[in-house]
Amino acid sequence: MSLSDVGIEALAVALPRRYLPIEALARLRGVEPAKLTVGLGAREMAVPDPGEDSVALAATAVQRLLATSGLDPARVGLLAVGTESGVDSAKPVASFVQGLVGLPREARVFDVQHACYGGTAALLAASEWIASGAADGRVAIVVAADVARYGARTAGEPTQGAGAVAMLVSERPEVLALDLGVSGAFATDVHDFWRPVGRREPLVDGHYSIQCYLDAVAGASRGWRARAERRGLVTKGAPASAQLARLAYHVPFCKMARKAHLHVRRTELEDRLGRPLDADELAAEDAAGAASFERQVVPSLELPARIGNTYTAALYFGLTSLVRQGGPALGGQRVGLFSYGSGCASEMYSGVVGARASEVVARAGIDDLLAAREPLDGEGYERILALGAGEPLDEAPAPGAFRFRGVVDDKRTYARA
Ligand code: CAA
Repeated sequence: MSLSDVGIEALAVALPRRYLPIEALARLRGVEPAKLTVGLGAREMAVPDPGEDSVALAATAVQRLLATSGLDPARVGLLAVGTESGVDSAKPVASFVQGLVGLPREARVFDVQHACYGGTAALLAASEWIASGAADGRVAIVVAADVARYGARTAGEPTQGAGAVAMLVSERPEVLALDLGVSGAFATDVHDFWRPVGRREPLVDGHYSIQCYLDAVAGASRGWRARAERRGLVTKGAPASAQLARLAYHVPFCKMARKAHLHVRRTELEDRLGRPLDADELAAEDAAGAASFERQVVPSLELPARIGNTYTAALYFGLTSLVRQGGPALGGQRVGLFSYGSGCASEMYSGVVGARASEVVARAGIDDLLAAREPLDGEGYERILALGAGEPLDEAPAPGAFRFRGVVDDKRTYARA
C-alpha cells in the first residue's frame, strides 16, 4: 500500500543524438580504461551539441510525453522544470517549453534551480500541489533536464552527459505512487560544486563533493527511516533500506551509487548499535553490502551507464531503469529514491511501483532512442566540445525533437522536426 494516490502517471525522455564510448575517451586522454569503467563505473557518455540545450531536451521530452500519454494539454495546470543548466538568467526554461509545446496560458509555469536536486524539489512540490487539492482536478508536468559539461582534461570530463525526463504527475500514479509525507531532507551550505553566473563549466572540489554527498545520504536516509518506521512502512528493528525492493540514488557516475548504498547500510547498522562497526562486523558488512548493491541498486544503473551524468535527470533515469529492469514483477513493490544537489540539498523518499508501470514506461520507446544514437570517436567528440555555446551544428532536428538554432535579435530561436 502506498501512502497516497498521487505520483508519476507516465514519463518520456530526450537524449542527445551522439554519445562517446568511454574507452574512446580513455584512449584520447591516455588514461587507463579501467579507471573509468571500473573506477567510475562509466560505459557511455551522451555528448550534446549546442543545438541540444536544456530547452531543446526538455521540450522534446514534454512533446513525447503528450504524444505517448494521450494527455490533453488543456488539463495541465502546472509546468515545473528542474535544471541547473538554464539558458537565461531571467527567463525560465519552462517558459520556452510552454511556448514550444503549446501548454495553457492559465498554467503555473516555473523553473526550480538547486543543482541536481531541482527536479526532485519540482516533483515533490507538484505532487503536494495535487494532494492539497489546489490542482482542482488538473495535472502537472515536471521535467528534469540538464547538460552536464565539465570541459576537456578536467577530472569531471568522464562524468559528462545530457538528457531530460518529463513526468506526468497526477492522481493516477501508474508508474510510482509517492509516500507523501515520508521523506528525509538534509541540507548544508558547502562549496563542493558550483557554477558562478557567466561560466559555462562548473567549479568542482571533486573528492570533497563525494564526502558531502555521503554526509547528505546519511542524514536524509535517517529522516526517511524515522518517518517510514512511524508510519509503519517498514518494520522497526530490521534495517529499513533492506526492506525496500530497490533503491535509486542520484548518479553523477555509477560508482557513486555503490558508495552511497554501502554508506546508508553502514549508517543504519551503526545507528542501531550506537557505536562504529568493529573489524569483524565490517568484514561481514562488506560481503552483505556488495550483494545487496547488486540486487537492490544495480538495476537502476542501466540508463545512467549509457548516458552519463544528467544532473537533475540522473535520479529519474535511474527510476526509469528500475522499472525497465524490474518488469511486471516490480509492480506493487516499494522503492526508495535519493536525490542530491550540490551546495547542498538532498532528500530521500519512497513510493510504490504501479502494477502496469513497465508497460507504461515501455511507451517511452527508450530502446529505439538508444539504438538511433550515433557513436563518436575521440576526434568527433573534441570537435563538438570546441563549439561555442551559441554555435549549434547546422543540422535538422531528429524526428519529434526540438533544436536550438541560434540567437536572433537577442532572442534564442528553436526549430522542431
Ligand atoms: N583501475 C580501477 N580503478 C581505478 C584505477 C584503475 N586503473 N585507477 C583509479 N581507479 C579508481 C580509484 O581507486 C577511485 O575509486 P574509489 O573512489 O572507489 O577509491 C576511482 O577510480 C576514481 O579515481 P580518482 O579518485 O583518482 O579519480 P579522480 O581524482 O580523477 O576524480 C572524481 C574522480 C572526483 C569523481 C571526478 O570525476 C570529479 O570531480 N567528478 C565531478 C564531481 C562529482 O561527480 N562529484 C560527485 C558528488 S557531487 C554530485 O553528485 C552532484 C553532481 O552531480 C555533480
